[in-house]
Amino acid sequence: MTKIDPQNLPHHIAIIMDGNGRWAERHALGRISGHRKGADAVRETVKTCRELGVKYLTLYAFSSENWQRPREEVSALMSLLGVYLERELSTMMEKDIRLITIGEIERLNPTLQEKLMEAKRLTAANRSMTLIIALSYGSRDEIIKAVRRIVGEVKEGKLKEQDITREVFSSYLDTAAIPDPDLLIRTSGEYRLSNFLLWQLAYTEFYFMDVLWPDFSRDDLEGAIADYQKRQRRFGLAGSQLGKD
Ligand code: FPP
Repeated sequence: MTKIDPQNLPHHIAIIMDGNGRWAERHALGRISGHRKGADAVRETVKTCRELGVKYLTLYAFSSENWQRPREEVSALMSLLGVYLERELSTMMEKDIRLITIGEIERLNPTLQEKLMEAKRLTAANRSMTLIIALSYGSRDEIIKAVRRIVGEVKEGKLKEQDITREVFSSYLDTAAIPDPDLLIRTSGEYRLSNFLLWQLAYTEFYFMDVLWPDFSRDDLEGAIADYQKRQRRFGLAGSQLGKD
């Protein structure tokens, strides 16, 4: 068991869940079995974060680029999400977890959109933890959409150019009202951001690990948090300015 300090938990953890396909290959199974096992790891991770007291958890479940995967894989991922929502809604209510999504939800099939809307509506007042699922999400598209809206509002005279600060810009992103992640975890030994939260990760601590997502366990999560707790976050300042070097 890894020792973690409950007083210094990352407030917001974001995860790039990678390696479902490779996990399936190693077990001589089809890719979809890897995603199914990945969904089990999602359930465990949400449970652990809630127990530990992590306030925000963002999971990269489907990127805008993932639409280019084989049609059967895309539809299997969509139905897995639907099943996940149906199965986990009661847990989310019981554990006081609010569900939010980021990304172009309007590209999802209408049935899944309805399930998501219903889950978001029912959990909207829950406050112990917020689970953010990134679906049909791409950070560059999110930034472009924000820029377009800002330009529109400047043209209409609703927003003044000189009032566009970092905070104002952030409020036009899908993640408006969600604090930036403190810790980003990526599984499967890949060292990339893959178009995930490019603006929001500016000062986030990164933790890359070799474990494939379906094998990601409570121990792995606690290990990542323990590693985060050893780091000194300086936000661009000198160590001496923070009172320790
Ligand atoms: C990356 O593995 C994983 C995904 C593209 C999908 C993530 C989805 C899940 C974990 C299941 C359902 C999600 C929820 C929220 C219930 P990959 O397929 O890219 O793996 P590979 O790189 O080994 O091929």
